Formats: sequence, C-alpha cells, structure tokens
Amino acid sequence: MQILAKPGSPFAHADFTIGVATSSFQIEGDADSREVSIWDTFCDTPGKIADGSHGLVACDHINRLDEDLEIINALNVDAYRFSVSWPRIMKRDGSVNHQGLEFYIRLLDKLAERNIKAYVTLYHWDLPQHLEDEGGWLNRDTAFAFARYVDVVTKAFGEKVYSYATLNEPFCSAYLGYEVGVHAPGLVGKEYGKTAIHHLLLAHGLAMKVIRQNAPLIEAGIVLNFTPFYANSDSESDKRATKLAHDHHNDWYIKPLMHGCYPELISHIPSEHRPPIQEGDMDIIAASIDYLGVNYYTRAKVKDDGSADPCQLPPPEGCETTAMGWEVYPRGLTDLLLQLHNDFDLPPVIITENGLASDDVLTTNGEVHDEQRISYLTTHLQAVADAIEQGVNITGYFVWSLLDNFEWALGYEKRFGIVYVDYDTQVRTLKASALRLQDLLRQRKEIL
Ligand code: NOJ
Repeated sequence: MQILAKPGSPFAHADFTIGVATSSFQIEGDADSREVSIWDTFCDTPGKIADGSHGLVACDHINRLDEDLEIINALNVDAYRFSVSWPRIMKRDGSVNHQGLEFYIRLLDKLAERNIKAYVTLYHWDLPQHLEDEGGWLNRDTAFAFARYVDVVTKAFGEKVYSYATLNEPFCSAYLGYEVGVHAPGLVGKEYGKTAIHHLLLAHGLAMKVIRQNAPLIEAGIVLNFTPFYANSDSESDKRATKLAHDHHNDWYIKPLMHGCYPELISHIPSEHRPPIQEGDMDIIAASIDYLGVNYYTRAKVKDDGSADPCQLPPPEGCETTAMGWEVYPRGLTDLLLQLHNDFDLPPVIITENGLASDDVLTTNGEVHDEQRISYLTTHLQAVADAIEQGVNITGYFVWSLLDNFEWALGYEKRFGIVYVDYDTQVRTLKASALRLQDLLRQRKEIL
C-alpha cells in the first residue's frame, strides 16, 4: 500500500480519488422504517442465506451514522461510496418517505462538513418487493419506476453529491438474481436473465436522462463487475469457450452502453432467451456516461465443455485464494483494464470496488491482523498503477468495504471490511489494514 503515499506515483495526486465503499442493504438495518425489499424476502426463504441471517439489523448503520462517519473521516479518505435504498425512499403507494430522504441528506451534509466526496449509487440490488410482485426486472415498467425514484432522489440531494452511479453490478441483479437464482429474487431460467438485464440497462439509460436534467453538473456513470477469462489451454476449443464466457459475462453488459448493441452472440442464442428490445431502447441505453465504474475481485479459467455457457474452472491447484475461495490474481486487473481500453472508447475509469474476505479474528487485546488484506490491496493497487502506466485513464480507487457486512447469500460469515464489526455488540474495530491505510493516506495528504 506504500504506493499510495509515494511521491510521483499515480495515487499521490490530488485529482486521484481514494475511498471506501458500502451499500444500503448490507449495512443499514432499521428495516422497520422502509418498505420490504426483495432481499428481505429472499432472507426469509429457508436455505437461501448460508448462515440463515437477514438484513434487519446488519451493521445498524442508520443508528450509528455519526460513529461510522467519524471512522470514515479518521481514515483520511477522499471519498465515501454508499448506496441509497430505493425502498427507504419510495413508499408502496408511490409517495415519498421523507424520513428516508432526510437520513441520506444528513449523511451528505456530514460528508460535506468533513470535505469527503459523496459517491452515490442509486441501485445496489434492494428492489422494493412490491415491484417484484409485479414482475420485478422482468417487467419493463420497473425501469420507469426506477427513473421516478431517481427523479425524487436527485431533486432532493441537489448539489450535495459528487458522483452518481445508476446501477451497481447489473450482472449480479440479472444473472445471479433471475437466471441462476442464487441472489434475490431467486428465479431460475435462461429465459429470464437477458430480459432482466435489458430492463436494468434501460433503467440506467432512463435514469441518466433524469440525472442530466436534475443535476447537470454532477458526474454520472454506472458500475459494472468484470471477470477476466483465461483459456485453460492453447486448444482452439478452450479459446473459443473463453471468448463465449467473455461475451456472456462481460461484453453483454458493457457493449450496449458503449456501442448501443448487444454482442454478436445475440444471434446465436435461442430466440426465447433474447432480450425484448423495443425501438429506441438501445439509444437510451447508450447515453453518454462520465465514467465507468469497474469492480474487480478475481479471474477465472475456462475449459470447453461443449456447452453454450462454458465451464469456469475452480482456482488452479496451489494458488492463493481468499475466504470466498476466489483466486488472488492482481495481474487480472491490469489485463482487464487494458482489454477494456483496447475494446472500447472508454470514459475515465474508477475502480469502484476491490478487496477481499478473510477469516478475521478479533484478538483479546482488540486487534485484527488481516495481513492477507494488506497484501491483496498492495498488489492490486500496483496492478492499477501498471494499467495507468500503460495508458488507461483511471481516476479513482475504492476499497470494498468500509465495514464487515451482510455478504448477500453468504450472510455475515464473510468479512470484507477494513473495519471489524462485532455483530453482538456492534462495536467497530479498525483492522490492521485500516490502520495502514489511515497512516498512508495521512502521509499522502501531506505530500499533495
Ligand atoms: C460486489 C458487490 O457490489 C458487493 O455488494 C459485494 O459485497 C462484493 N462484490 C463482494 O462480494
């Protein structure tokens, strides 16, 4: 992590943003003050969450805002990326929950007082359940409901926001939620995934228009997750399978935004699995964005198994993995950024998430020795620096995550935070990684 404060490094510049990130459902709690979301319902469905947990309390962030802000401030970061909970803002009857809005306005004001830039994600997976009851992302109307919610939020927040992201990782919402069913709402079927993503991307495009009207001076974009794929061998069949995996899982999400069309793959998939594109949709989706958010965690190797959706192999034998079982492969981040840079005329890129889960333990003297996280962040920051050196315009880097939190289908067992949360007491403890970051960002501030 030393590179953060190294004079001359790409990170030791005032116009490079360093931050920490969270999302509403994963930390907020206080579920009684909002509508039910699809994740509440999913948590209530037996067998869906590994530890049987839910998001009703999570990190109790709503009630601990001041304390959490003090932690963010103490870290010396430039920015805080968080998401707004749609079911906390819009009531079922279409009216606005002003108490919900006020919470975020308070948060924005407190960030401004501390000179911390607010990176606001408008959708990080917590769809109001009543919209799911009408079909959720399989229903085109949901995209328009999203635009109405974004209108309310962007009008209320005014100039308090530094940067908007419409959606976080629409791949997860669509593919994990509607095609393989491991995320809420838990639908399974090839006929659903690409319909869901089309409506999500449409929602993004409609929201961009609303943001441009209500907040023309605020930067706006979208956050995508990518997995760089590598062929398991030099065989033509493995290479072909790797390209297919890339088209399905990466290009399908970015190409419509950049080129206004889906990958060529669309003509090879059965017509009943294709997205329901209406005239004008692709132009709305391809609205110009000010930045592309990139979330990166790991890579995957691909082997041809003869299927239309080729098999992604488990991490190679003997390689370093995280508590998620994901391979630690920093080089993948450089490769990914270079590939995106070659394939598209990219706007500036922000690494909106990067980090790892580890089996962190709070010692009796109140310390958390998360050495693997320090090493992961160090090597991945270097990977970002390598990409910058090779010509990619990258303007920010956010650690996932500020706090240990609700890791979706894996519940609270996976700890991604640089701050340890004791879920019995809600006591927060800065892990060794947070202390290192804090110290380096203090040094960085001195040389800026
Ligand atoms: C991406 C998601 O945006 C975030 O919510 C999740 O916790 C991390 N990946 C880790 O899996």
